[in-house]
Amino acid sequence: MKNIAVIGAGTMGNGIAHTFAQSGFTVKLIDRSEETLDQAMATIAKNLDRMVSKGSISEEEKLKTISNIITYTDIKDGVVGVDLVVEAATENVDLKLNIFKQLNEACSHDTILATNTSSISITQIGGVVSHPERVIGMHFMNPVPIMKLVEIIRGYNTSDEVTKIIMDLSVQLGKTPTEVNDYPGFVANRILMPMINESIETLYNGVAGVYEIDTVMKLGMAHPMGPLQLADFIGLDVCLAILNVMHDGFKNPKYAPCPLLVNMVRAGKLGVKSGEGFYDYSESKKAEKVAKQFIKS
Ligand SMILES: NC(=O)c1ccc[n+]([C@@H]2O[C@H](COP(=O)([O-])OP(=O)(O)OC[C@H]3O[C@@H](n4cnc5c(N)ncnc54)[C@H](O)[C@@H]3O)[C@@H](O)[C@H]2O)c1
Repeated sequence: MKNIAVIGAGTMGNGIAHTFAQSGFTVKLIDRSEETLDQAMATIAKNLDRMVSKGSISEEEKLKTISNIITYTDIKDGVVGVDLVVEAATENVDLKLNIFKQLNEACSHDTILATNTSSISITQIGGVVSHPERVIGMHFMNPVPIMKLVEIIRGYNTSDEVTKIIMDLSVQLGKTPTEVNDYPGFVANRILMPMINESIETLYNGVAGVYEIDTVMKLGMAHPMGPLQLADFIGLDVCLAILNVMHDGFKNPKYAPCPLLVNMVRAGKLGVKSGEGFYDYSESKKAEKVAKQFIKS
């Protein structure tokens, strides 16, 4: 396996492209606009610069990693001749089903089709392609170049052979894969999202402020980051989408998203990626602009 396509160049897509490219794979990174792809390449360059300054990679490795990534705005063009597609587009069922229908037309029948979905059924996604045994969940964690876990989700039809290939590939990327079954939210988000939702509910009920809630969880529970800050990093729209999938899938009110989360997403406060969520990220926005200028110069 040498050639990979990654669909979606947002928070996760750029990290997945970065990780494969750094391990020597040729990556075709696909998104809907040149602007999004430029932003993704600027983020990758900024993250590689940080690794160079920490001494974890050399300047040459950085340049090689960047040269391993080619960008495309058309799925059909981007997936020609690839061995594996990792879909990391927006967490929306209809959008993902539509992308997999296009992949079914554009890819050969032995191309493995993986999705980075946080919660949507792998079995349902597999249902729109021929040979659903090649569809699998490859759920990377954020930030992808740093986090070790890949949650590998077997759909109802996913074959043993495809599961083994993806488990081995994850190890090749320096990750630790863990195999789980296909139920809403899988394992990671089934446990994480109720905690994040409860922390938003705690804020909404006026029990404590943002800083206080995060401090209790950081210093009291030894979490490296508070749940509200983590929600900002994940993206509040992504958190809402995952909670909705679990709420619909289990028909259980305990997964109902907090009204404050719903309101913030409606107001465009999505966390780090929009510049504001529970915290203000205008400074990190400035850093992104600097990285972008660096790439263009
Ligand atoms: N954010 C996280 O921490 C996290 C962690 C693990 C998994 N995930 C999952 O990863 C996926 C992506 O999430 P994200 O946080 O990167 O979202 P994001 O909003 O940052 O990025 C999504 C990207 O998909 C692109 N896109 C949408 N439709 C497309 C199409 N038809 N063709 C090509 N590109 C398209 C958008 O333009 C955008 O750049 C979701 O399924 C999400 O649940 C997210």
